[in-house]
Amino acid sequence: MGTSDAKVAQPDVCSGGTFLVERSTCTGGNEPRPDHGSATRTGRSAMPATAWKEVVIDGKVKFKVPAHLELIKKVGSGAYGTVASFQDPKSGTKLAVKKITDAFHDLVDGKRILREVKLLRSFRHDNIISILDMYPPDHPDFDDIYIVTDLMETDLHRVIYSKQVLNDEHHQYFSYQILRGLLYLHSANVVHRDLKPANILVNKNCDLKICDFGLARGLGNDEDDPTLTDYVVTRWYRAPEVVLLASEYTKSIDVWSVGCILCELIGRKPIFTGKDHLDQIKKILAVVGMPSEEDLTWLPPRSPARNFIKKVPPCTKQSWKSVYPKATEAGIYAIERMLTFNPTKRATIPECLILPYYETLHMPDDEPVAETPVDWAFDKFTPTKRLLQNYIYAECWKFHPEIQQRDAKLLDSRGISELLR
Ligand SMILES: Nc1ncnc2c1ncn2[C@@H]1O[C@H](COP(=O)(O)OP(=O)(O)O)[C@@H](O)[C@H]1O
Ligand SMILES: [Mg+2]
Repeated sequence: MGTSDAKVAQPDVCSGGTFLVERSTCTGGNEPRPDHGSATRTGRSAMPATAWKEVVIDGKVKFKVPAHLELIKKVGSGAYGTVASFQDPKSGTKLAVKKITDAFHDLVDGKRILREVKLLRSFRHDNIISILDMYPPDHPDFDDIYIVTDLMETDLHRVIYSKQVLNDEHHQYFSYQILRGLLYLHSANVVHRDLKPANILVNKNCDLKICDFGLARGLGNDEDDPTLTDYVVTRWYRAPEVVLLASEYTKSIDVWSVGCILCELIGRKPIFTGKDHLDQIKKILAVVGMPSEEDLTWLPPRSPARNFIKKVPPCTKQSWKSVYPKATEAGIYAIERMLTFNPTKRATIPECLILPYYETLHMPDDEPVAETPVDWAFDKFTPTKRLLQNYIYAECWKFHPEIQQRDAKLLDSRGISELLR
């Protein structure tokens, strides 16, 4: 890809904060695909790790990791896993290890983890977290999953609520990199659907990677999983069409979330903090104003969603300048385009990238797209514990082929053998 350092306008130094914008770090195009077959990027030596040890995180969660790794600290816990950082003292390599305990207890959650693993393995982009390893299960009838990724220093939620100085250059650069990652993701026909500051990882040099693909979906897929509609995107970052229709998954919903994140970077608090569905719509309309008839044509005429909107007290549009008096004109316009109520009029990711706000960052020949769309065939099955275990086992085997021999006597009876090709 591009070797475009020369094209990057040298940023002013962001003095006063430890987050230094180093734009050239974003311009390397795609990273080389991790060599999934070898152990060299996993923090282990080139030899397969044979020794394992248990480390207790926070006095609660037991992690089984390669014996030579040293725990740095617990870095996070989300809805599904505990994440801890480790270091290989010899090479200095740092890793993030996410443990999902009892991963198959809930089949919907189990399928979500498989989806995340499959997607992360197929992506190759420097604004998307890459999967480096999956630790081998002890037995084909395992319950816990370990996913190893590049370690990032923190996430945007923590940055926003820290004392870090964040100036307009930071807002631009962070949101630009999210858009750059989304250009790739959307070109693979995948919608993230759960973009929020906690799912955006960053380093001190302002490098940024999108993580947490458990809710991601393909486009044009039949949504046959009704249990999922309830918790699409943490409410505050949900686009109006998601709140109102709950079944419409298009690329535009990610753009809305980026708009919410940009607002949160600028205002250092979430923009639309709805307490429930109706309140979410109320909070949105209190700022963007009551949509015109024309801006509601995407909603079916007699849908419950229309009545839902009618219940909201009349409200007029506020000027974004009054909401964010310190924002620049270009910043305000970017917010306006991303937080357009009507999804058919909202800017697309390519349109966002050419906004004046990103003028100094946008580099058309260094914004890679996916080579091929994601093939969602792997996702078309009704989950059972056995099937999920088998598919995850096969993913671990790709990193640790030695488990095939160890478990040779058991694989046929589990239906795993046919997956190991
Ligand atoms: N590679 C990583 N480097 C640093 N922190 C991470 C990494 N992956 C996850 N985290 C931290 O752990 C949190 C939870 O991880 P995430 O993948 O979002 O899991 P969940 O599905 O449980 O939300 C993130 O919000 C982030 O703070
Ligand atoms: Mg998360």
